Amino acid sequence: TDLYAVIGNPIAHSKSPVIHTRFAEQTGERIEYRRLLAPVDGFADTVRAFVAAGGRGLNVTVPFKLEAYALADRLSPRASAAGAVNTLRFDADGIYGDNTDGVGLVGDIETNLRVELNGARVLLLGAGGAARGAVLPVLERGPCALTIVNRTAEKAQTLVEQFAQAAREAGCALSGGAPSTIEPIPYDVIVNATAGSLTAEVPECDERAFGPGTLAYDMMYGAQPTVFMRHAQALGARISDGLGMLVEQAAESFWVWRGVRPASAQVLAELRSMLG
Ligand code: ATR
Repeated sequence: TDLYAVIGNPIAHSKSPVIHTRFAEQTGERIEYRRLLAPVDGFADTVRAFVAAGGRGLNVTVPFKLEAYALADRLSPRASAAGAVNTLRFDADGIYGDNTDGVGLVGDIETNLRVELNGARVLLLGAGGAARGAVLPVLERGPCALTIVNRTAEKAQTLVEQFAQAAREAGCALSGGAPSTIEPIPYDVIVNATAGSLTAEVPECDERAFGPGTLAYDMMYGAQPTVFMRHAQALGARISDGLGMLVEQAAESFWVWRGVRPASAQVLAELRSMLG
């Protein structure tokens, strides 16, 4: 039996052990998956102790994704682009860091919600770690128009510059800046990657950006729809929270560790019913 865990602070409420235990049952992989609480100033030491105890991989959550990025000896291209790591794998030649959050988002939107990003007009709200991790996986779906806006406009502009080359290679139109650059025409997909939902705040966004053909996606999730989701629904949009993204990023991490791809639909349904 190989040992894995999710590391964070706090960690008690993480759903990752449930998800990965289901994945293991489903695929027949012999793994054990735990929760690992690290002191805020003790991430690297806690990781080293886990490796010494035979640990094979970690999921990394708040507030350690940047430290995990710094700790990795090798990085996947998507982790490099995100500047953050949510998946560590301990190999014979060192620590491999990956980031599965962005593909988790894309997988949920395309596979579960059945909205194609290729050819879509996409609006990304926010320019923090969560937003940055989504950019490359969205661009890699092929030609699209992606607009990134943020309350602090310079941070969105920095992302537009950082990903300009990747956008050109993918044939995507990439733009962004202040919320005032949002077009008053319904987008196909609007992703809320701001931390606004934590404080029940809706990020600034032209109401005309939402229409009946819009998927309004919040990376957050909970027992109730977020204020962003309620706002979008009132404007006629289709809505989703980020629970599917959580399950899809876990499935991708499982693949990174085991080379086996679990099915996510049943686990997502089970988590949904657990949320109440
Ligand atoms: P995360 O890792 O969750 O992305 P972060 O890196 O701290 O966290 O980024 C938080 C993002 O949410 C930022 O884009 C932030 O905007 P600023 O760059 O202007 O701070 C955004 N954000 C947080 N609260 C917000 C609010 N009430 N309205 C709009 N944007 C908000």
